[in-house]
Amino acid sequence: MPANTPSIPTQNALTALPEWRALETHRAQTHATHLRDLFESDSNRAKALSVEGPSGMFMDYSKQRVTTETMRLLLDLAEARGVRPRIAAMFRGDKINVTEERAVLHIALRAPRDAHIVVDGVDVVPAVHEVLDAMGAFADAVRSGAWKGHTGKRIRNVINIGIGGSDLGPAMAYDALCAYTTREISFRFVSNVDATDFAEKTRDCDPAETLFIVCSKTFTTLETMTNANTAREWVLKGLSANDTAVAKHFVAVSTNAKKVLAFGIDTANMFGFWDWVGGRYSMDSAIGLSTMIAVGPKGFQEMLSGFHEMDEHFRTAPFATNLPVIMALVGIWNSNFLGSQTLAVLPYDQYLDRFSAYLQQLEMESNGKHVAFDGSRVTWETCPSVWGQPGTNGQHAFYQMIHQGTRLVPCDFIAFCEPLNAIGVHQDLLIANVLAQAEALAFGKTLQEVEAEGCPAWLAPHRQFDGNRPSTTILAKRLTPAALGRLIALYEHKVFVQGTIWGINSFDQWGVELGKVLAQRIIPELSGSVPTPAHDSSTQQLITRYRTARGR
Ligand code: F6P
Repeated sequence: MPANTPSIPTQNALTALPEWRALETHRAQTHATHLRDLFESDSNRAKALSVEGPSGMFMDYSKQRVTTETMRLLLDLAEARGVRPRIAAMFRGDKINVTEERAVLHIALRAPRDAHIVVDGVDVVPAVHEVLDAMGAFADAVRSGAWKGHTGKRIRNVINIGIGGSDLGPAMAYDALCAYTTREISFRFVSNVDATDFAEKTRDCDPAETLFIVCSKTFTTLETMTNANTAREWVLKGLSANDTAVAKHFVAVSTNAKKVLAFGIDTANMFGFWDWVGGRYSMDSAIGLSTMIAVGPKGFQEMLSGFHEMDEHFRTAPFATNLPVIMALVGIWNSNFLGSQTLAVLPYDQYLDRFSAYLQQLEMESNGKHVAFDGSRVTWETCPSVWGQPGTNGQHAFYQMIHQGTRLVPCDFIAFCEPLNAIGVHQDLLIANVLAQAEALAFGKTLQEVEAEGCPAWLAPHRQFDGNRPSTTILAKRLTPAALGRLIALYEHKVFVQGTIWGINSFDQWGVELGKVLAQRIIPELSGSVPTPAHDSSTQQLITRYRTARGR
């Protein structure tokens, strides 16, 4: 760790802290208490364990296996682990991403024009707004048809090429905000190096009407550069054009101007961002260009204001009523004290179809780590695996396991009161389902209740539900661009608080490097140009089999 790095928890002995020990004792004392008993013994429980955040975002965590005492002890832990100074350090622009020696300033991407955030002596806010303005002008030109392709046709298809943080955010946001998008243009997302992704996304597109946004922070990522090269060939071949056509059909979003230029994209058509924006925290930077074209600059600005609202809530609200802090602490309780290995995120809104896929990167690439700030190996669990599907689809797939399986699966339910498609009784049915699931998980159904319904004794155990399965319900008014911004910022900050408590750096991703390096080594071996690949016997056998199958 660089010397004099500020605001970093230097001691790694999380589990030796008196605050941690107090939680362990508390767990031993309360573990046997069922959620049924907790609700029965406290008529104020729902109120006491709920909090209303910005713009009416309501979070009810009373169906988590916590009490006000648990929360008090968890809040003590947050203080002991320096969450407060770490929040201040992030907002100040300190280089809290110590392994990459970078500031962590996604909050600057949504700071208002008159804010000031200084990194290395430079106020970064004017540059953020300069890029937003350039994106706005470009988005308007594409939306209005003023931006023409090489042959003079207007753009009808926008295809984002990127992967990880350069894909998941824009792809998720496009689905989430679909109700607010122009329907004059189709939006597609190519990420996988599997050619099928490119082939299927472009098969019905006319190159003359297609604009590619090549999104890559580094502009070196194998998948993205392979797809970008394929796209360039597809456009030039389809238009029987030379390289001059590239400028009309390709724009880039990157921090790497040199590589963008080398690819053949005019840097006038490049939208920049900065090394203090992590890939998985970048959907509100220029990486969101496709989102802005889809919803328009005003819609994008509304989304940014939602992010900012949650940033301000996170920065200023007392911890006891601070949504990201509470969510983080409840997650710590579930992972580190109740032994859960996983978190199911279950949005009851079809537009949030890709939300859990997005969160997988945000949470697992950020906190899926076993090395503490001081280089030692942590001796406690860190990030759970995150997964989910929109309700009610998941109910007919994996909820069986959540209700009656042997593992504890904490759930985040997300729902909106007002439908975006008000048709018949759909919304009431949707909301009835999310409420029913959370209720069933918490309270279950006893054997006596099952038998009282006349169920034969032999069948009753199969139809009995233990309950005591924890969930949080987030209920917001309506899925708008601002609501989406608030929701994402909520999870971003939750991840940061958890990383701080676990003592890990939530902003690097060294764990993805080894696989990338080995793939580079295997590529020439597959072509047959390296006769005897030296690998372990399993890898070697698979390479040989592949080469034989491909006649090499
Ligand atoms: O998976 C590793 C990673 O570096 C992510 O953190 C990032 O979002 C993704 O690859 C894409 O990187 P880039 O935007 O540089 O192409």
